[in-house]
Amino acid sequence: MVTLRVAIVGSGPAGIYTAEALSKQSGEPVEIDVLERLPTPYGLVRYGVAPDHTSIKSVAGYLRRVLESPGTRFLGGVELGSDVSADELLACYDAVVYCTGAMVDRHLGIPGEDLPGSVAATDFVNWYCGHPDVPADAFTLDAEEVAVIGVGNVAVDVVRVLAKTADELRGTDVPEEVLDRLAASRVRRIHMIGRRGPEHAKFTLKELRELGELTNADVRTLPHEVEGADVEGLSRQIRGNVEVLRSWSARVPQGRPRALDVRFWLRPVEILGATRVEGIRLERTRLVDGRVTGTGEFETVPAGMVLRSVGYRSVPLPGVPFDTGTMTVPNVAGKVTGAERQYVAGWLKRGPTGVIGTNKSDAAETARTLLAEAVPGTAATKLDDLLSARGVTPVTYDDWLAIEAAEADLARALGRGERVKLVGRPALLAACGRAPRDTAGAPS
Ligand SMILES: Cc1cc2nc3c(=O)[nH]c(=O)nc-3n(C[C@H](O)[C@H](O)[C@H](O)COP(=O)(O)OP(=O)(O)OC[C@H]3O[C@@H](n4cnc5c(N)ncnc54)[C@H](O)[C@@H]3O)c2cc1C
Ligand SMILES: NC(=O)c1ccc[n+]([C@@H]2O[C@H](COP(=O)([O-])OP(=O)(O)OC[C@H]3O[C@@H](n4cnc5c(N)ncnc54)[C@H](OP(=O)(O)O)[C@@H]3O)[C@@H](O)[C@H]2O)c1
Repeated sequence: MVTLRVAIVGSGPAGIYTAEALSKQSGEPVEIDVLERLPTPYGLVRYGVAPDHTSIKSVAGYLRRVLESPGTRFLGGVELGSDVSADELLACYDAVVYCTGAMVDRHLGIPGEDLPGSVAATDFVNWYCGHPDVPADAFTLDAEEVAVIGVGNVAVDVVRVLAKTADELRGTDVPEEVLDRLAASRVRRIHMIGRRGPEHAKFTLKELRELGELTNADVRTLPHEVEGADVEGLSRQIRGNVEVLRSWSARVPQGRPRALDVRFWLRPVEILGATRVEGIRLERTRLVDGRVTGTGEFETVPAGMVLRSVGYRSVPLPGVPFDTGTMTVPNVAGKVTGAERQYVAGWLKRGPTGVIGTNKSDAAETARTLLAEAVPGTAATKLDDLLSARGVTPVTYDDWLAIEAAEADLARALGRGERVKLVGRPALLAACGRAPRDTAGAPS
């Protein structure tokens, strides 16, 4: 019996759920290599999910069992594009599944967006999550007022991390240097700003409620921004959000160290400042035929930092079709349009929305499509030979276990929780006894 050989690019939930679905659905033997540009697996579960949401992070326990299952290998530190090309992967495997997520931020497209102090939530999240691409000293929280643009769950995460005390985050895996910087934070007031009404906010009720329970911040909404919402016929979730937001407008400040103002019907028109961010100019909005429309009434919110949390965006992979309109890989039920033996799953397939679990059914669809047409034995070349000729030695699953152990040791040594993240590729590679790579091999 010939074994089907599949490469999955990206080890986030979509990649790992695809590996699981392929193994479970296939009646024939399948060998799966999960390639990952970082030395560590799990994508946004490790470098996105907020550090204080430990129960959500525990999904990694489920994902690890997939990586540990027979016939599945983890190859960390291998990037599609710089270490290996799509064509080379197709020469090595019967099928390739792209699951590289959505790594970069969407832009507001307003003046001042590039001023120092105007920060993409993607970078800020990467920073407090200890992502290898962002150094631990990337941010100093020396602004007293921060404006967070967007009212989705990422904005809620960012606000919560800014509002909590460093002590409240001590038991999490936040890198030690990040924790020091959070402890030195001068932030006093946070403005979270939605361009539409409370009934249009994208955050979920559970996450919103958590903001109301912060012990270090007084949370407030303005009655005229939350009272008018017509929630008749809307979902329980939305009615719940609006109810909570209305209840906050009646709250009396308790003199807590920080204040959180959740604002609505304000769209950013300019980030202000001569050499760095000093504030944000907002225009009051209303909906006309369902579209956000400016009213010509303006307001300036002072802020030394503007955090833009308006969604993520996928990036094109070299040699792989990409739709620049939807910013996804065009596909039918997971099969890449116009590309033989190539498939896609997760945020790269459907855009940057949905919780971790959404990727499971999505990946199952892609696996079904792949298994219905894949022919084992198509590929002749071995990826290991190609990588070793290029001087690329992948981080193995055992190497990853050594990194995990080092992070647990660090937590013990610091008297913190279960693990404290190591930051930067050199530290991660040193933890598994590996020297950092000097040069990445270039695909032909
Ligand atoms: C800040 C944030 C917090 C979130 N919190 C929650 C939460 O609390 N609960 C919840 O249910 N959902 C949460 N989500 C949503 C959830 O994380 C996503 O639904 C999920 O991670 C998407 O999975 P994915 O595999 O498509 O992408 P990712 O998780 O982004 O995985 C993509 C992987 O591909 C790798 N990769 C990228 N390019 C390459 C390349 N060229 N070569 C090799 N590898 C590559 C990346 O390094 C990454 O590991 C959150 C999302 C964000 C942005
Ligand atoms: N705890 C969790 O479960 C959790 C945590 C984090 C993330 N996630 C998930 O991850 C996904 C991504 O979350 P996200 O918060 O990045 O995205 P999101 O849910 O799409 O929210 C994006 C927010 O940005 C606003 N926005 C977009 N463009 C804007 C502009 N030009 N000006 C002003 N505001 C603008 C949107 O407003 P409009 O609605 O008006 O466009 C919306 O409020 C979501 O599915 C989310 O649920 C889940």
